[in-house]
Amino acid sequence: PLVSTGALVSHAAAKQRAVAAFNVITLEHVEAVIAGAEAAKSPVVLQISENAVKFRHGQLLPLARAAVHAAEAAAVPVALHLDHVTEDDLLRQAADAGFSSAMFDAAHLPYEQNLAATRAATDWAHTRGLWIEAELGEVGGKDGRPPLDAHAPGARTDPDEARRFVADSCVDALAVAIGSSHAMTSRTAALDHVLLTRLDEALSVPLVLHGSSGVPDEELAAAVAGGIAKVNVGTALNIVMTDAIRRHVADRPTEVDPRSYLAVGRQAMTDHVTHLLGVLGASG
Ligand code: G3H
Ligand code: ZN
Repeated sequence: PLVSTGALVSHAAAKQRAVAAFNVITLEHVEAVIAGAEAAKSPVVLQISENAVKFRHGQLLPLARAAVHAAEAAAVPVALHLDHVTEDDLLRQAADAGFSSAMFDAAHLPYEQNLAATRAATDWAHTRGLWIEAELGEVGGKDGRPPLDAHAPGARTDPDEARRFVADSCVDALAVAIGSSHAMTSRTAALDHVLLTRLDEALSVPLVLHGSSGVPDEELAAAVAGGIAKVNVGTALNIVMTDAIRRHVADRPTEVDPRSYLAVGRQAMTDHVTHLLGVLGASG
């Protein structure tokens, strides 16, 4: 069934677990994430990013409608989240399209501007019942910029600033910069667990980890134990999908039916989702 992100995250946080939120680009991603979650008997969040909407020529509804339909038919609870939104117009579309939450991303702006933009977005979103996540500090590697393999300590989230930001912006969850970076293709990120503990102590809202594809399994499990309640994964699915498709078509030069390679790409993503849900303690 389709459920709300806020309910899934609070439930997980109360049990010191995390909800996994997977970025979906194609219908095969949607099907794979749900199949992987069903195999793990775990709830899951499907996230559509503003970038994924741009890929669909600016159209939110084709993939969102498919995701809502798939979520409603799923054997496990599935929520729909709009990820890394910068445009107010897109945020406004989300409330009518089945999304229960969004991540409003003004983290690239100086503190006061990030706060003002986030507060305005949150005030509006709360009138529509949307749960809002924002980011303070900067998880690098967005928009095709090179991932920060050695995440700059200067970009990390400061606990005192974070406490003020959450109080003044009224957000429901905070994405924290603790050493992960977006779009990493190797799992070599080292998280700052001391900083995570300080952030967890300073803040009463759930904490979100972005750029989780670059974080090794043991580090992910430790982050959940340290207070991360939502784990965002995008690139890892694209890696396993593309690797599987690349191998499949290379071995079959005469194959032309997209179903043949999309099926193997989808299965590779399904297996990875099931694996990660186990790592996060979400299975069962
Ligand atoms: O919001 C999306 C996540 O932060 C995904 O990051 O593609 O590096 O796993 P990733
Ligand atoms: Zn992200």
